[in-house]
Amino acid sequence: MRQFCLPREIGGARVRIEAGGLHHIGTELAREGFSGRAFLVADENTHRRFGSAVAQSCADAGISLLTAVVPPGEGSKSLATSSILYDQLAQANWHRDEPIVALGGGVVTDLAGFVAATWLRGTPLVSCPTSLQAAIDAAIGGKCGLNHPAGKNLIGAFHHPTLVLIDPTCFESLPERALRAGLAESIKHALIADESFLTWQEQRCDEILGLDGPTIEELLERNIHIKIGFVQGDTRDTIGSRIKLNFGHTVGHAIETHLGFELLHGECVALGMVAAAWMSTRLGMLSDASHHRLLSVLRRFELPTKAPGPLEVDAILALMEYDKKVQAGRRRFVLLEEIGRAVVHDNVPDDLVRDSVSRLSREPAPGR
Ligand SMILES: NC(=O)c1ccc[n+]([C@@H]2O[C@H](COP(=O)([O-])OP(=O)(O)OC[C@H]3O[C@@H](n4cnc5c(N)ncnc54)[C@H](O)[C@@H]3O)[C@@H](O)[C@H]2O)c1
Ligand SMILES: [Zn+2]
Repeated sequence: MRQFCLPREIGGARVRIEAGGLHHIGTELAREGFSGRAFLVADENTHRRFGSAVAQSCADAGISLLTAVVPPGEGSKSLATSSILYDQLAQANWHRDEPIVALGGGVVTDLAGFVAATWLRGTPLVSCPTSLQAAIDAAIGGKCGLNHPAGKNLIGAFHHPTLVLIDPTCFESLPERALRAGLAESIKHALIADESFLTWQEQRCDEILGLDGPTIEELLERNIHIKIGFVQGDTRDTIGSRIKLNFGHTVGHAIETHLGFELLHGECVALGMVAAAWMSTRLGMLSDASHHRLLSVLRRFELPTKAPGPLEVDAILALMEYDKKVQAGRRRFVLLEEIGRAVVHDNVPDDLVRDSVSRLSREPAPGR
């Protein structure tokens, strides 16, 4: 079991990482001072797997639970689904001191976070992330986004949880591909901020993929601390320090959309990191040896370093134009100076961007 508090400026939540922790959520809610009622938001999958443990624990602690179950998938990150939840809250005459509990992956974390941010202008939020992606990313940092037909995460708010309860045994039921995709973000964190964390992951690949308890607890805590480091001082994403968390995401997001979500987000981030590493090497920043190391670690975790088929480079570049527009027309990329040190580079030459994307259709090799 590990427990620590986030810095006050990003909400000060207590983070508790505990195998089997969902069976004690009632006690943990009581410890936060919640007693009467809690509003649980889950998707069909997470409710089926973990809903009864949460319900039992809350009942034992004398907390009565109202439950909303939404369909799994990105479609639930919508104003329409939020509206259904608002209706349930209104019907229950939900008060602003009664908590909303998110039980699920990043979709439920974002949806419940947005509803908690907006119901009565802010009700307490408790986050119980059940996917690795949600535990090391969505549940930390206070962003909660909904999708609009015009794009992903266009609607949103900043709202911090009071408690983040991570039960790593939940990850045992994640499809292996989803687990590996979540690990792409963990590798990203190491690449941009902590070389020794990359070494640690390289050395413990088998324990990580085997979900060894102490290893996963350490992995979670190290990832959360790295994310905090970027969020602190830029809590509302206005200063620019959070931008380094986007390493691999500019090209990654474009590929994700271009392939119609055939690849998981983390798999696209892996490809985006391969493209960014190539740019970094060509601009004389990243050594061939470090480039090689980045490719090796992705392969070790069986993340893609090559696109599943030929990519339409022009279409992908066009999808990246939106990012360019919001950055006043500059080709801004997060690149690597070294493993563990990211830099923001303005004006990466267009032909290098094109080259880095078109190379993703071939097996990459550093230094050529
Ligand atoms: N707000 C943020 O800062 C932030 C950061 C990163 C990602 N996100 C968002 O997170 C979402 C992606 O998160 P995700 O990958 O967790 O997707 P997800 O929530 O859609 O979960 C993926 C699938 O796994 C299932 N699932 C979740 N936990 C499970 C478990 N323990 N066992 C079995 N199945 C389980 C879900 O029901 C779903 O079908 C995206 O919408 C993304 O925008 C938000
Ligand atoms: Zn991501």
